[in-house]
Amino acid sequence: MNTNNMNTIFWEDERVDGADKVTGKAKYTAEHSLPNLAYAVFVTSNIAKGNIKNLDVSKALAMPGVLDVIYYANCPAVPGYSTNSVERPKNVSEWRGHKVLYDNKVRFFGQPIALIVADSFENANAAVRFVKPDYETESFETNFDKARLDAANLKSPFNYKRGAGITKTIAANVDAEFNIPIEVHNPMELQATIAYWEAEDKLLLYDKTQGPKSTQSVVARTFGLPEKNVRVIAENVGGAFGSSLRSWSNVPAACIAAKKLNRPVKLVLTRPQMFSLIGYRPQSWQKVNIAADAEGNFLSINHEAISNTSRYEDFREGIVDVSKFLYACDNVTTKYSLLPLDLSTPIWMRGPGEATGCFALESAIDELSYKLKIDPIALRIKNFTTINPENKLPFSDNNLKACYDYGKEKIGWKNRPIVPGTLKENGWLIGYGMAVGVFGAGKGSASVRVVLSNDGKLLLECAVSDMGPGTTTSMTKIAAEAMQMPIGKIKFKLGDSDLPPGPSQGGSGTTSTVGSAVDLACKTVQQKLKELAIQFASSFAGLTADLMDVKNEMVVLKTDTTKNIDIIGLLKLANQEKIDLIINSSGKTPEQLKFTSNSFSAHFVKVAVNAKDGKIKILEVVTTGDAGKIISPKTARSQMLGGVVGGIGMALSEKLELDHSTGQIMNASFGAYHVPLHSQIPKTDAWFVNKPDMNMNDIGAKGIGEIALIGFAAAIANAVYNATGKRVRDLPITPDKLGFKVAKA
Ligand code: MOS
Repeated sequence: MNTNNMNTIFWEDERVDGADKVTGKAKYTAEHSLPNLAYAVFVTSNIAKGNIKNLDVSKALAMPGVLDVIYYANCPAVPGYSTNSVERPKNVSEWRGHKVLYDNKVRFFGQPIALIVADSFENANAAVRFVKPDYETESFETNFDKARLDAANLKSPFNYKRGAGITKTIAANVDAEFNIPIEVHNPMELQATIAYWEAEDKLLLYDKTQGPKSTQSVVARTFGLPEKNVRVIAENVGGAFGSSLRSWSNVPAACIAAKKLNRPVKLVLTRPQMFSLIGYRPQSWQKVNIAADAEGNFLSINHEAISNTSRYEDFREGIVDVSKFLYACDNVTTKYSLLPLDLSTPIWMRGPGEATGCFALESAIDELSYKLKIDPIALRIKNFTTINPENKLPFSDNNLKACYDYGKEKIGWKNRPIVPGTLKENGWLIGYGMAVGVFGAGKGSASVRVVLSNDGKLLLECAVSDMGPGTTTSMTKIAAEAMQMPIGKIKFKLGDSDLPPGPSQGGSGTTSTVGSAVDLACKTVQQKLKELAIQFASSFAGLTADLMDVKNEMVVLKTDTTKNIDIIGLLKLANQEKIDLIINSSGKTPEQLKFTSNSFSAHFVKVAVNAKDGKIKILEVVTTGDAGKIISPKTARSQMLGGVVGGIGMALSEKLELDHSTGQIMNASFGAYHVPLHSQIPKTDAWFVNKPDMNMNDIGAKGIGEIALIGFAAAIANAVYNATGKRVRDLPITPDKLGFKVAKA
């Protein structure tokens, strides 16, 4: 931390933990160590489905440094693995998902079938190939495109319908299908757990998680422990994008091994295992039908979707939900079914559901605009609504029009060719595209401990995690603004389940939820300070708190700030070492519940498509967000940039490739699963409306993480169409889909 900044007040715009992170001082889960630590590595299946008839672990056990090989035949009983709810102890609930090391069943390719524990990571890893499984294989299905065609394979349809039907004349309609492959999160930090049984019934975990409290609760309920006996530490998280929103098999496996060996065990997934063991964005098929009248009013929207799940769990997300409320439309039907495959279970991935749904909806609206000969931005404005047509509540705020105005101007929308494929520069076809993103803005409950010490320092604590967006920074800023005191005197501590309960970091809800609690905690401290001033400072005697302010580390009289007492002096005068409180902030108030809240984004891109080989270059991006008040400009901008990078990957290269004859993932590496390169990221203007949404919460801030990505892939697809006249509805958009022959290397 730069000490020159110590006295800078709240507009200071550095990450408070930035220096620690870039200098390696900040520790991530796998970087922790404990005395007598053992190292564990998963052995995974190389069939997609079947039974293990026999698992020969003798050779692996004989390898140097190997302490144990744990598998179904020697795995100690786990209370939460019991499927019998009558026999299960009261404080135990059944482990959700795949029960690792539990039985001889193989449910997907790459499933853990054994855990090698050794005195070093290298020794554990070296023994992996000496574990010999003897399989009895079963037939399986991993082919989504094939399996979805048989309606008998689909399950759990969710249907929605509103409206009495179309009464006006349809001038144009679009009816199109969209396909998105499996995408994986690929965070920098590997999934990892260190488990240590401090006592027979007391567990310490270092775990890569987006929710220390949720991991604590899952582990306690799986192993039959009181929650207070499980401590989960996740001080720093190196990216997750949703992949650490639940506890995967590494968590119970590390706990089981640590118990069996009676020593702490570290289990870190390998990079290839990150492709199969921590969830993924499910593969999806969508069909969108939009009808409009000649003026462009949407007369009906029908949105259908299928996404895959595993055979052993249902995973569903809000794919079709965007079509219910983003635009004014009387007649809307949606249908969404699941397709179980012999794969592991999917999970939320940045912009879950909406990112998938918006790709289809926002592409279809673009198609419709050409049929109607109406500018795509004008078409969206035509169907703009301030009332959510699904629940009929007013949006707490909706500044999409301001986003359109800014983006249109900055990207140079006036240069967009009206007829696709007609603008050429130096052998490249140029196109402009835009699309909208939307995500729910929530406010949940959180508790914050606030400690103001008589040295003038302020400490705030909450068990939430920071997977990278900069929660530590934004919470510090909210406190600095509420307290009107310098950032350098404030510390926000998170990432430890022993701290007051906070939410999992997910669904773009942290700033609103925890920020509201921080704001309330600071205001409560200010109230206490005012009361102390009235009681102990003679110059405030007989006054009431409403006449006073707390700012610049002083209690002051509003009408005459020369009448003041500094906080340190006041606490000393009151003979108080500190003010130490735990403040609970609950969800939305009845007043806030009169509104429906969303964050919105509008993305604008300029692309060039090579007229010879179909190579796509993103030339320029303007990405705009309506997320209420921007707490921390630098971290907020970084969220938008991350969404742009993720969106470019989603649009142009990301696809998990499966070999359907074996069920194996064929590109489980950064070398073969293509994320954008630095050189592919263009000049990007990230802009926010930055208007506080005071109907939403007292701090006026909504989430950014999801809207940064949602809609972006559609903006690119729309720009590619504008450049080439080729509409690609199946991601990723590769030159072959544009009709170009790919040259042999
Ligand atoms: Mo996000 S998909 O809610 O981590």
